[in-house]
Amino acid sequence: MLASDRELPVSGGPEKRTYVREMFTAIAPTYDRLNRIISFRLDQLWRRHAVRRLGWERAPAGVYLDLCAGTMDFGAALARRAGFRGRIIGADFAPAMLRLGRGKSPRLAPVSADALDLPFPRAAFDGAMVGWGVRNLVDLDAGLAEAARVLKPGARLVVLEMTLPPGALLRRVYQLYFRRVLPWIGRRISKHTTAYTWLPESTQAFPPPAELARRLENQGFREVRFKLFLGGVCALHEGTRA
Ligand SMILES: C[S@@+](CC[C@H](N)C(=O)[O-])C[C@H]1O[C@@H](n2cnc3c(N)ncnc32)[C@H](O)[C@@H]1O
Repeated sequence: MLASDRELPVSGGPEKRTYVREMFTAIAPTYDRLNRIISFRLDQLWRRHAVRRLGWERAPAGVYLDLCAGTMDFGAALARRAGFRGRIIGADFAPAMLRLGRGKSPRLAPVSADALDLPFPRAAFDGAMVGWGVRNLVDLDAGLAEAARVLKPGARLVVLEMTLPPGALLRRVYQLYFRRVLPWIGRRISKHTTAYTWLPESTQAFPPPAELARRLENQGFREVRFKLFLGGVCALHEGTRA
């Protein structure tokens, strides 16, 4: 059954996993283009900002994980850094998304994998990034624990995610843009009926930044902090694997 026929499964369960995987498979061909349009190209700026907080300079020839990598734009932002000589594994459970990352950099390697059950040994990575992925997980804590498991002690994790702006005025503008304008643009370009309604709905259901910070701490990260972009539309969390 198509998700347009029922309520979106934002709160979790196996139907959320199925919906997310099928939805990203369907919108993959227009994903990058729509990202640029709906974020006014800020998505790329935020990824570059997050990469600066990854601390990759300590291990420039290391192995890094782009988790929920999609079309691997986040990994590509690291690959393009002058002086970076390492490898980046892009892990995602929608191969159609990963395929579109091919050719973005020879340093990127796609792996079809579920973020909740990664096919990597303990302490395999020198750092990890997740761009707009954690909101889509069926079990957030299990996903953060799995990220902690595959990171070396002292390695850093950076997480970009949508949030609700705390200020009343901006929240009203946000509601107008994210609930009315964005779904309309998304439907026209992607031809998917619910993917760009999923974005505001799942953002609404996702924990606020301070709670995400606490949950990162609970799953084995220290020195956790976060920064808000554009008045709180997007948050960058960072932490160090204890
Ligand atoms: C909004 S896209 C983000 C893509 C990319 N990180 C970026 O910066 O544009 C979310 C991605 O997370 C992936 N994803 C969601 N849940 C996942 C899971 N449990 N395991 C692996 N990938 C997952 C989806 O397939 C999708 O490609």
